[in-house]
Amino acid sequence: MYSVPQFEEYRSDPLHALENLLNAQAAEAAKVRTETEWKEFRDRWLGRKNGIVTQLNQLWLKAAPPHYKPTVGENLNAIKPQIERLVEETLNRIQGGASTARLAAERVDVTLPGIRRPLGAEHPVIKTMNEMVGVFRNLGYSVEEGPEIETDYYNFEALNFPPNHPARDTQDTLFIAGQESKPQRDRLLLRTHTSPVQIRSMEKMKPPLRVVCPGKVHRNDAPDATHSPIFHQVEGLAVDTNITFCDLKGTLDHAMKALFGSSVKTRFYPSFFPFTEPSADVQISCIFCGGTGTRDGAPCRNCKASGWIELLGCGMVDPNVYGFVDYDPAKVSGFAFGMGVERIAILKYGVDDIQLFFNGDVRFLEQFA
Ligand code: DAH
Repeated sequence: MYSVPQFEEYRSDPLHALENLLNAQAAEAAKVRTETEWKEFRDRWLGRKNGIVTQLNQLWLKAAPPHYKPTVGENLNAIKPQIERLVEETLNRIQGGASTARLAAERVDVTLPGIRRPLGAEHPVIKTMNEMVGVFRNLGYSVEEGPEIETDYYNFEALNFPPNHPARDTQDTLFIAGQESKPQRDRLLLRTHTSPVQIRSMEKMKPPLRVVCPGKVHRNDAPDATHSPIFHQVEGLAVDTNITFCDLKGTLDHAMKALFGSSVKTRFYPSFFPFTEPSADVQISCIFCGGTGTRDGAPCRNCKASGWIELLGCGMVDPNVYGFVDYDPAKVSGFAFGMGVERIAILKYGVDDIQLFFNGDVRFLEQFA
């Protein structure tokens, strides 16, 4: 390895000494392959404390007799930039080489086919909900939405569930904690049905009115194959002059045929809801056995051999409800209905467990894409 000769040698053959020095640097530079090696090389030649250039100043320039100093100085000034340039060029060389190697390794063949990202799709519940809403939009209904966190007033009281009325027990839910100081009607809860949107819509608009209200609802129900603490409903409300139960029957019969096929029959069965009078449950003829009650010679399991499947609740809006929203029950009449989205999706798609909708298993969900 090159080491800086004493000044005496320089003096004896200055050109030769300089040439030796530069040749030595060139030979060392040629061996540099990696960045670590280059750093060593750089420090060896240009290191501030003990690099060869610094040593030249010490051993040659300082040691030179005064009359000779300018010559030595000139010579050193001439070779310093050369030494620096070679250090720089060496770095360029190894980096250039590295990036060439990297480019070769990371070569991308743009003619290869791309990687397909799986496309998402509408969730079956949302898909069904949109379809249900679509049926009523085609009948001229507009879409209204309301909050999922509701007050006791909208969820119960204005729908004619008086405080402590047993009908409330059928719709137990989560109440927001720490509201004991509020009057009962202002207390917040997770809405148990979409019916509060009826009240909000009637407060907002004067009759005539036709709205559908899709949304998420909550109940204190333990999850099983047919129950979920969170599910979805589509609510409907039509208020006008001279609306009768016939209009209700015709509307829902049409909706069921639109959803399940034109051969489906409907049946209205007396029921009770606080906010409708009279109230009815709507049943459709069983879509699995065609309403016969038997399938493949055995009793149909889907309709418990009755030929009918209960699907939704409805009725004529109770005049008490109009009292809460300042509609005149002597002038207007109307009907309302509410149906579970998951229940309809289960029937439409032949799903046997409501939990499948909420488990997020892509193998299940992608079947609806
Ligand atoms: N809100 C009722 C429920 O969740 C469903 C319902 C029944 C809605 C009758 C209505 C109706 O609008 O008229 O069980």
